[in-house]
Amino acid sequence: MVDIIFPDKMTPREFLDHYWQKQPLLMRNAIQDYQFPLVPEELAGLACEEGVESRLVIEHGETPWELKHGPFSDQTFARLPEDHWTLLVQDVDKYISDVADLRNAFRFIPDWRADDIMISYAEDGGSVGPHTDTYDVFLIQANGKRRWQISTNNHSNAELLPDLSVRVLKEFVPTQEWTLEPGDILYLPPGVAHWGIAEGPCMTYSMGYRAPSMQEMVDDFSQFLLDRIPDRLHYMDPPLSLQSNPGEILETNSELAARNLNSWLCNPDLQAEWFGCFVTQVKEHLSIDPLDNPLSKEEVGALLMEQDELVRHPFSRFAFARGGNGSILFFACGESYPLQAHQQPLVEALCKDNLWQAEEILKMINFSGNLELLTKLYNSGYLLIADDE
Ligand code: SIN
Ligand code: CO
Repeated sequence: MVDIIFPDKMTPREFLDHYWQKQPLLMRNAIQDYQFPLVPEELAGLACEEGVESRLVIEHGETPWELKHGPFSDQTFARLPEDHWTLLVQDVDKYISDVADLRNAFRFIPDWRADDIMISYAEDGGSVGPHTDTYDVFLIQANGKRRWQISTNNHSNAELLPDLSVRVLKEFVPTQEWTLEPGDILYLPPGVAHWGIAEGPCMTYSMGYRAPSMQEMVDDFSQFLLDRIPDRLHYMDPPLSLQSNPGEILETNSELAARNLNSWLCNPDLQAEWFGCFVTQVKEHLSIDPLDNPLSKEEVGALLMEQDELVRHPFSRFAFARGGNGSILFFACGESYPLQAHQQPLVEALCKDNLWQAEEILKMINFSGNLELLTKLYNSGYLLIADDE
């Protein structure tokens, strides 16, 4: 188990109070006595696989910042220049369990905020150019050295270099710079412009956090409501009085329409349910296939008795929220499961770990609804009996 060592005896609480989403923090030697799990060849191998999101950024390629999307072939790598290129692979934590384990070091931030660990390999001089991200990110130097320049000037409306598929700032005046070595971490909140240039071959792991745009949230919430609002509901007039001008819309009418809308838009139970579903959605290319032959709850119970361990599908996202009267809402991959108070221990266990001893889970299956929940999750492909892996 890896732990983050904050600088100057800073506690995780102090980090959250003073830095998270507020200001950058350089953490020297934050990860110690740890062998980063991946060698560049493995990263390149992943980038050749179908369904894995990968990019190559080549400076002074066919354009000043050339972008290629994977999957790549061995020939692509063989034809790369000697230096000034970067390979970036998204969601490596979903494919390599040792990389997923590194996420445990960052659990001072809630799991549902986390998106992925992206890993980059760069040859000398390689970079993706100066840019801003809408993500919080911990830039973890794993191998070799990288010089990071950052600018805390406001770049919210900054111009980008024209006609490129890579988002590179037209102007970048650094306010601070450091060379990061293995084990060093640079935390950046969203919007801080940064530029990391490899000094010799190097690997950087980016622990990135989701920050959906307001547009995405409104879009998703609207769809969530549309799936729930019965189509029999229509606008109905308040008692009408005669109007001097029938062309006028009276305030009473527009207010009534707004009240009707708000009973759905501002319903706290629906908002909480939507939010849990929204933040546990998985990216489309990481969706999990349900079992072709779903099992009955008796069969799942029997399987649990035969096996030692139960494992969470590495692509899955689980979370829970407390409702009124002790009720529990469990969320798995964008779906909600309203549960009863007595199911809380199972739900807490499911959300806390990604591997469970079958005997621990078996102790909880006699509580009503628990075996049904486990069966649904198993048949959806979210839970794997260790042998299925
Ligand atoms: C990199 O790892 O090369 C780029 C990471 C970033 O700038 O966000
Ligand atoms: Co960035």
